Amino acid sequence: MKVLVTGGLGFIGSHTVVELQNEGFDVVIIDDLSNSSIEVLDGISSITGFKPVFEKLDLKEKSSVVSFFEKHKDIVGVIHFAASKAVGESVKEPLKYYENNLNTLIYMLKSVLDLECSNFIFSSSCTVYGQADSMPILEKAPVKAAESPYGNTKQIGEEIITDTCKVAPNFNAIALRYFNPIGAHHSSEIGELPIGVPQNLVPYITQTAAGLRAQLSVFGNDYPTEDGTCIRDYIHVVDLAKAHVIALQRLLEKKNDSNYEVFNIGTGKGSSVLEVIESFERVSGIKLNYAYTARREGDIVSAYADISKSNKVLGWESQLTLDDAMRTAWCWEKTIRKL
Ligand code: WQD
Repeated sequence: MKVLVTGGLGFIGSHTVVELQNEGFDVVIIDDLSNSSIEVLDGISSITGFKPVFEKLDLKEKSSVVSFFEKHKDIVGVIHFAASKAVGESVKEPLKYYENNLNTLIYMLKSVLDLECSNFIFSSSCTVYGQADSMPILEKAPVKAAESPYGNTKQIGEEIITDTCKVAPNFNAIALRYFNPIGAHHSSEIGELPIGVPQNLVPYITQTAAGLRAQLSVFGNDYPTEDGTCIRDYIHVVDLAKAHVIALQRLLEKKNDSNYEVFNIGTGKGSSVLEVIESFERVSGIKLNYAYTARREGDIVSAYADISKSNKVLGWESQLTLDDAMRTAWCWEKTIRKL
């Protein structure tokens, strides 16, 4: 069965393509290469032995999307990752984010609706919760005012899909609200490839240890948490990738309870910034150079998932630990830096 993965050369997309191929799916990747590299295709095929079909397309061009689906009418499902995802950048360039994340979603949905069996997995984010009132965060927790245009595009994206599902009973969608994806495939053939200075914690840690960055800044140690640093739910990217395959299979096997479902994808465990640093030091044997600095604008104190619905209804749970994630992230960094 043929599955389309948009943004399939990105960090989460590429790991999901590997897991789809492991399950016997034929995968077609669309990517505009704005935040990824064509070499990732070789990484994927060196793991699975199969090179996915790849088309470089800008999904902001409606005609490209339409002609793509005219060529691929036998697609049974779409996993839609393609989006810009840098929170800070979205604050500086909101229109770029609204255009790239929402126009592309609308063009994809219009085309997918014409397919016989349209099954759609949407890459959403725990960002939609903002600073939730209580932990762990349930799917029914209120969606709060977005902290950034990026987060807003995820909230609006979910609303667009919800409203589409209401008028298209044959259209089936699942939104996966990711917590913090980290780590890399154990083969070190694929992993996270941040462009420029990493915004996220884990690539900044591994680049500091690799000598690319002088020192990690821990953004604030005066938060109301046990060790004063922020808490997040760090999910291994391979566990996250597997969740996409399970969600797609749920729709293909018509096991969904309604034609729009939402699931939290996290470990259900919160880890502080210091605990992540300690995990890195434990698995690498390296003492990390870091210093406490001012808080980062827009950071929330704590976010970790209630995963009971994902475990019981979706039938998925994370298998890999924080140490597994930090170990694979470090192996990946050493591989790409030839250390
Ligand atoms: C984690 C913690 C920082 C960098 C973002 C997006 C979210 C998702 C994941 C896309 C925070 C601290 C970080 C550093 C630090 N992306 N930190 N020094 O902000 O939780 O989530 O990425 O879907 O939508 O919002 O992730 O890795 O940036 O930060 O101290 O150099 O690490 O303050 O507490 P975040 P992050």
